[in-house]
Amino acid sequence: MEKKYDFDTVVDRHNTGSVKFDLRHDLLPLWVADMDFPLPGEILDAIKKRVDHGIFGYTMTTASYWKAFDFWCSREYGYHVRSAEWVTVPGIVYSLSIAIRAVTEPSDAVLIEQPGYYPFSNVVTNNGRTLIVAPLCYKNGRYTRDIAAFEKAVRDNNVKALILCSPHNPVGRVWTKDELTAVAEVCRRYGVTVIADEIHCDFIRPGIKFTSFATLGDEYKQKLILCTAPSKTFNLAGLQVSNIWIPDPVSREKYKRINQANGYNNANTLGLAAAEACYTLGKPWLEELKEYLEGNIAYVKNFLAHNMPCIKLVEPEGTYLLWLDFHGTGLSNAEMKERVESRARLWLDHGDMFGQGGELFERINIACPRKRLEQAMNQLKEAFK
Ligand SMILES: Cc1ncc(COP(=O)(O)O)c(C=O)c1O
Repeated sequence: MEKKYDFDTVVDRHNTGSVKFDLRHDLLPLWVADMDFPLPGEILDAIKKRVDHGIFGYTMTTASYWKAFDFWCSREYGYHVRSAEWVTVPGIVYSLSIAIRAVTEPSDAVLIEQPGYYPFSNVVTNNGRTLIVAPLCYKNGRYTRDIAAFEKAVRDNNVKALILCSPHNPVGRVWTKDELTAVAEVCRRYGVTVIADEIHCDFIRPGIKFTSFATLGDEYKQKLILCTAPSKTFNLAGLQVSNIWIPDPVSREKYKRINQANGYNNANTLGLAAAEACYTLGKPWLEELKEYLEGNIAYVKNFLAHNMPCIKLVEPEGTYLLWLDFHGTGLSNAEMKERVESRARLWLDHGDMFGQGGELFERINIACPRKRLEQAMNQLKEAFK
């Protein structure tokens, strides 16, 4: 089928205040999880239309915004959105912080899994809660959860909340319905609130099925905070919009009170306009983007197999973040990091940032034009030959 969108053109992001490109100009950046692709014309037109109005006063979500969001969620994930049960906030990490304060007390135990997205641990400790880590199991190139060890961690530490990364960053697992139900069941039995971060849920590889925690069953909704956002899917991180579902009215009121105590009241005008347009019009672009990313994954896999077989790709089921295993290089963790930075001149996310089990891994963001990825892989090859 003929392609409508162009993902090959390299757009220079330098000097735009880009966190990815402008913090350091000496390394090729494939680290932080945003994409180097511009949005398509139909979405930009909707944002421009809002810009042309010229007035950017205090803004709230509208019925048409919720309709667009419901359209997306019902088609993509199989649940409907009742807007009264949702809160729109600037970001997921912001929301995790509010959620923890809403459902736990100071020094309460909060569980996360590692290797895992590093702000999870910060958000727990910075809010004066006790961090409990359940390590994921890595065997034969695949990550799984030891549910008995998970339950033991919950029971032994009197855990009050779990921050669940689903799909999982950085290991790329898309948890199956059975795996999620097992987690949900343990949490229900011990009264643990599940704070489910589903920010990566629109990047699911062919043949893999995503199950939203929202669809597991009514018995698991009482203690659930579901964190969703268009920011990964449509590259809107700079526009600061996330949608959070809190089905339980008591927790929701508490969440809202803490949110207000933070002084946050009104949404980002352009963020809402962009998100509404993306949820309404964005599917064709996303579908082509995912095909392009498949090509990028295949490229990395092939390149490693032919040029650096000692570096293994952990086959991802979702996300645009690849988790590379450097154990076969025979290097130490420090040597690996030194080579990636000083010799390959790449900015990747070193695995040890992701906590337990992260040493001798690197996370590479492949949401960029193929040419940039080719350059990165060739730089890596030179450094590790
Ligand atoms: C799992 C996960 N949650 C949250 C975020 C960040 O979300 P936000 O920018 O909305 O705080 C990221 C970004 O990479 C992520 O990978």
